[in-house]
Amino acid sequence: MDQKAIKQLVARAAVDRLVRSGMKLGLGTGSTAIPAVYYIGELMQKGVLQNILAVPTSFQTVIACEQWGIPLYTLNSKEIGGELDLTIDGADEVDPQNRCTKGGGGALLVEKIVAYASKSYAIVVDETKVVEHLGLKFSIPVEVIPEARVPVERALEALGAEVQLREAVRKAGPVITEHANLLLDIRFPAPMDPEELESRINQIPGVVENGLFTRKHPRLFIGHANGSVEQRE
Ligand code: A5P
Repeated sequence: MDQKAIKQLVARAAVDRLVRSGMKLGLGTGSTAIPAVYYIGELMQKGVLQNILAVPTSFQTVIACEQWGIPLYTLNSKEIGGELDLTIDGADEVDPQNRCTKGGGGALLVEKIVAYASKSYAIVVDETKVVEHLGLKFSIPVEVIPEARVPVERALEALGAEVQLREAVRKAGPVITEHANLLLDIRFPAPMDPEELESRINQIPGVVENGLFTRKHPRLFIGHANGSVEQRE
């Protein structure tokens, strides 16, 4: 199976196993989470799922929900009341303890807020995302207030990170996040303690959030090239 097919397979498996009518759902961002959104839309159109209320994690997710007629709310909406039944999202890396890094698509801030507001949290990935140690292969994004770019860069270097400002692809200059901030992508030359690092990075003045997700343990769905979907609690 190619990677796109694996992502679709794992996304659909998670929806089939977890999503039920009447749920308040957090919907993730990226090439593995969006097929889950489309599938939920498809099941709603067929009448298999009813009364779904969705909180999106990015503009990408908003557009996907709009295309499929999935009703959109925010965590602050009266109908949601700040708490979701379930969130389904993707990840850039997952380790043996189900800790993740996220934010390859730049949506880490709302993704983390939505994850922590969910009673149940599911991460869908293809097998290439499974690693022994986080942050060695795929960089970890840190969302930063523009005025704090250089001091935050220095503070991250002092923690042992190699730091790179994320540049836009079809725009001159840096990526601007959906909350008008910058992203510093950091990588570590050797394994680090993800829990400790998640808190230490967020203590640097000017940091809004970082892409380490260590305190909300998800149920993990891993799609394999042989067509199987593994579930890890
Ligand atoms: C978006 O900001 C991310 O956190 C994504 O969930 C993550 O990058 C995984 O995306 P893919 O499924 O596209 O690899």
